[in-house]
Amino acid sequence: MAEQLILTATDKAERYEEVLPQLFAVIEDETDRTANLANTAAILKEAFDFFWVGFYEVKPTASGGTELVLGPFQGPLACTRIHRGRGVCGTAWVERRTLVVPDVNQFRGHIACSSLSRSEIVVPITEPTSGEVLAVLDIDSRELATFDDTDRHYLETLAAHLAACWS
Ligand code: SME
Repeated sequence: MAEQLILTATDKAERYEEVLPQLFAVIEDETDRTANLANTAAILKEAFDFFWVGFYEVKPTASGGTELVLGPFQGPLACTRIHRGRGVCGTAWVERRTLVVPDVNQFRGHIACSSLSRSEIVVPITEPTSGEVLAVLDIDSRELATFDDTDRHYLETLAAHLAACWS
């Protein structure tokens, strides 16, 4: 495993092109999900200086339902549990699709863990055959409109890769 990330690109797409292969190399020989999600959060945070990068995993509740529970992350303290359909994360879970939110204050029901977070992208990680959502990758930015189709493209590629952590 490499000891440190190599970061040279300034263009966003090029940065993803150099970071993702390094990230895949880090996680490919490790079978533990927590270890892989933790390193993924660390690598994305370091590579792009995002405000918050982390995972919420779909987990059973005491009452027999399911909800999103905070998993490995990098950044400030975050809310621990999110109900299905709540906030950006819970909506991405229900709709089983990536949500790009240019201004979190314009998103009805956004869960404000920090007033410093101004835009975000949430990418579901789905079970390859059933399409069932296993977790979501949530990335928050201090700036408005940070995320676009370039982020969506590369982060969905990453999410497809990470689904193997649940098998
Ligand atoms: N942004 C999320 C809440 C989680 S935190 O931002 C880390 C949402 O509205 O779903």
